[in-house]
Amino acid sequence: MYAYTDFDRDFLAERNAQFRAQVARRIDGSLTEDEFKPLRLMNGLYLQLHAYMLRVAIPYGTLNAAQMRQLAMIADRWDKGYGHFTTRQNIQYNWPALRDVPDMLDALGEVGMHAIQTSGNTIRNVTADHFASAAAEEVADPRPVAELIRQWSTDHSEFQFLPRKFKVAVTGSDQDRAVTAAHDIGLRLVKREGEIGATVLVGGGLGRTPMIGKVLADFVALDDLLPYLEAVVAVYNLLGRRDNKYKARIKITVHENGIEEIRRLVEAEFAPRKAAFNGADMAILENIRADFAAPDFTDGQGAYPTHYTHDPVFRSFVDTNTVAHRHADYAILTVSLKAHGATPGDATSDQMRTLADIAERFAHDELRISHEQNVILPHMPKRHLRAVFDLLRAEGLGTANIGLASDIIACPGMDYCALATARSIPVAQEIATRFDELKLEHEVGPLKIKISGCINACGHHHVGHIGILGLDRAGVENYQITLGGDGGPDAVIGERAGPGFAYDEVVDAIERLVRAYLEVRDNADETFLETYRRLGAAPFKAALYPEVKANAA
Ligand code: HEM
Ligand code: SF4
Repeated sequence: MYAYTDFDRDFLAERNAQFRAQVARRIDGSLTEDEFKPLRLMNGLYLQLHAYMLRVAIPYGTLNAAQMRQLAMIADRWDKGYGHFTTRQNIQYNWPALRDVPDMLDALGEVGMHAIQTSGNTIRNVTADHFASAAAEEVADPRPVAELIRQWSTDHSEFQFLPRKFKVAVTGSDQDRAVTAAHDIGLRLVKREGEIGATVLVGGGLGRTPMIGKVLADFVALDDLLPYLEAVVAVYNLLGRRDNKYKARIKITVHENGIEEIRRLVEAEFAPRKAAFNGADMAILENIRADFAAPDFTDGQGAYPTHYTHDPVFRSFVDTNTVAHRHADYAILTVSLKAHGATPGDATSDQMRTLADIAERFAHDELRISHEQNVILPHMPKRHLRAVFDLLRAEGLGTANIGLASDIIACPGMDYCALATARSIPVAQEIATRFDELKLEHEVGPLKIKISGCINACGHHHVGHIGILGLDRAGVENYQITLGGDGGPDAVIGERAGPGFAYDEVVDAIERLVRAYLEVRDNADETFLETYRRLGAAPFKAALYPEVKANAA
């Protein structure tokens, strides 16, 4: 993976020293909170309901063991012994004291990490497919491109005050696990006549006006990519609305001006920018690529086939939590951070250390954080899987529920977030606990439930097969349900099912939905989403609102 150069280290040290001085001035009162706010936001420090929150970027979701151990150390030393992994491949610390934050940033710097541009109206952490370089169907590893974009966008002087935040995601696979269509810019690496390039989507986003990204360019060759991106962001920087925060994202700029006009403006902007780049970016990309060379895969599965055949608990874990790796003796293992009843995405420092140890001892020193708030061991030799399963179980990490009803994305909601209108973590916990008690989720199969605690949609509810949005109705929590959303290659925004539910009704409502699916599905292989697409919303609405059905009868 990418290793920091002396330049990177010096840059970070200087930046951290600058922030240390700003924090000191806030503590001694020479800066007011209003004056301090833009300074802290440039370094990922938010002020939330109960405390400061530090958001740290995990570029393209990739970590090595040393970095994961450092995240654990930070959680123990300056927080409450845990961290929260988010849908944008960041980790959030929820309880830092202001005076400690400079030390936390220095500790991150020691392992090549930082919190720059995890907030503010800048280009945010560039995310990527969490199965990068391991997935069998991949066209190209998206991470070198994501790293190139990270280097270009970090502290980019032209783009420090964009109209609004700007999110970029990259995938190298037609499965689109990076949800590129819900990003300001989504890049899909494709091969055309032997050459790798990118399909560029623009104007996707969730929040209060959800939109699916539109194709701005079918194919941009790699050596044109950075100047092309720069042209897109430059056009947005000038054209994006600064008069209204809710209309400031590029999705609105595209919607109001039309994709053809945006394309025309981008193309006009592209030519001079291309000339200025002079090919220097391609030399940098070549060096970055060398850092991402795949490990030497070893052959042989050891006793794995015997364990798989004779141990049903292990078999269920493998069937649910692994997918095919491009090397037959390997698996891609997803470790669930969604033990039934736990807070989705939270990991304790002990769990982080266990994951780091496993990665180092058995799995080529690589870990990934997925936007689904789980941790992935992308290169797991099958011969070690049995031993790893035991280690995971001992640390509460052996839950076999990946892709199932209890593998829920949930934003922090009212438990932490200053913008929340409702709780989301407890709803996720109660749904997961209910499905565990019912012992139904394996029978139900693939089902994505996603929960946001307000209209900002951090929990991706619009692209959940079942989405739950927590609102405030005259001081009372109310949960609106959307159906049929999907964040995959043909992403769609879910449709609202009808009136919302009170907090103590929502878990029952979800159970009714799932039971309705089991009744009407064609066969056990037809997923919830397929059934919804075949039959439409009617049978699900009937299950959600039985009283309406009874009245109509
Ligand atoms: C706790 C502090 C947080 C605050 C104050 C916050 C704030 C916001 C706001 C205001 C938006 C709407 C932006 C818009 O529509 O223009 C948003 C969107 C979003 N946030 Fe958060 N967020 C927080 C935490 C999180 C967490 C923990 C995650 C991941 C679990 C997350 C991921 C996202 C995503 C994926 C979106 C929607 C995508 C888009 O930008 O269109 N945020 N956030
Ligand atoms: S969706 Fe709302 S409640 Fe949830 S983290 Fe985002 S801003 Fe906070």
